[in-house]
Amino acid sequence: MESTNNNRGFSSNLGAILAATGGAIGLGNIWRFPYTVGENGGGAFILLYIAFVFLLGVPVMMSEIIIGRRSQKNVIGAFRTLAPQHKGWISMGVLSLVAALVIYSFYSVVAGWTLNYIVLSSSGQLIGKMPAEISQMFADFTHGSFWPLFYQFVFLCLTAGIIILGVQKGIEKYTKILMPILLVLMILMCIRSLTLDGARQGIDFLFKPDFSKITGNSILEALGQALFSLSIGMGALITYGSYIQKQDNLFTTSLWIAGADTFIAILSGVAIFPAVFAFGLSPASGPSLVYEVLPNVFNSMPGGTIFAVGFFVLLTIAALTSTISLLEVPVLWAVEELHWGRRKAALLISLAVFIIGAFCALSFGPLNHVTIFGLTIFGLCDHLTAIYMMPIGALLFTLFIGWYLPKADVYDELSNSGQLKARYFRVYYFIVRYIAPLALLNILIAGILS
Ligand code: TRP
Repeated sequence: MESTNNNRGFSSNLGAILAATGGAIGLGNIWRFPYTVGENGGGAFILLYIAFVFLLGVPVMMSEIIIGRRSQKNVIGAFRTLAPQHKGWISMGVLSLVAALVIYSFYSVVAGWTLNYIVLSSSGQLIGKMPAEISQMFADFTHGSFWPLFYQFVFLCLTAGIIILGVQKGIEKYTKILMPILLVLMILMCIRSLTLDGARQGIDFLFKPDFSKITGNSILEALGQALFSLSIGMGALITYGSYIQKQDNLFTTSLWIAGADTFIAILSGVAIFPAVFAFGLSPASGPSLVYEVLPNVFNSMPGGTIFAVGFFVLLTIAALTSTISLLEVPVLWAVEELHWGRRKAALLISLAVFIIGAFCALSFGPLNHVTIFGLTIFGLCDHLTAIYMMPIGALLFTLFIGWYLPKADVYDELSNSGQLKARYFRVYYFIVRYIAPLALLNILIAGILS
């Protein structure tokens, strides 16, 4: 089985790690993580988050990757291959497909905003503006219709262009180029932020835990953020897992992905909070933090324009490597199950996403009066994936690995047929069988009741 698939998949373990890390690191790390930390009181939340990433995130991630690598198939084909007698599992694949499309629809809206901010900052339109004017610009832009749709469309085209080039020549090649640029930009942003007068307060906010700030809701938020940031529960890791070579070590690969993802999330906290505090702005301003608050920060620092452009380029790169991983889920399905060509699959699926995504983009402006269960269309897509689909996906994947797939098969996959020792196996298996399902069930119920 191994040798027939040599061209299917990533060419090396490094390629696999970079591509999957690129999928994990995204708006979730640089846009969502800082504002969630800001709203949940800082340091203590970060510790909780890190505990969730490594105690739950990594085992669940490994489970999802096992499903992909063992089957070497897309999200639907994987369950058909691994559970041939129990067709019900295929619905898991269908859920993954739908979830990837829904996430991509609203994710591409925020990704498009980032392109707009590259243009605004590089053309000097943010310079010398008062905070109220900057907030007004954000509102005018997001409440509009042409430009948000335009930038969303551009983003979808960029992603589709790379996907059409293929797994090795597209996904792997571009993530190998983009990820180092992202790291360098991020480090430069951190240095700038840490050398501002008054940076200290931001660092204290991030690293001095105050456990009295932890509420039941912040526990939910921390786990939800961990799942989102690691791209868990939506089939993206099944898809990329199917591209991982048989000789690669799934445990160390998962640790790398989770470690790099967490490292970048914390670095983005270090890049953002010292600056926010140094200029006396609020850390708890929610989803508009990087778009509305940071431009003021850039405005008041020497060389701000360069850092502003650098930051929004960084955000675009992070978003792009994630949209690549989101689009690849339905594309691989269409290629393997419907026998479409990659180009046709990428273009038609992107078009479908643009149609759904347009409603999400317009829900900030012309369609903001359209609410379903009290949420705008964008809010609904976000809520549906974060509160229902992601925890359900993660729960069912762990049940599949912990209770359905024979234990010997799981061990075989983690030990590469006995070549690796996999000494952690008993701990892993215990978590996947008992702890993770209970924790995820808890989250799911709490999320639904909240
Ligand atoms: N993890 C990405 C981020 O942090 C978002 C993402 C990409 C994602 N692919 C995914 C989330 C698949 C869930 C499932 O921005």
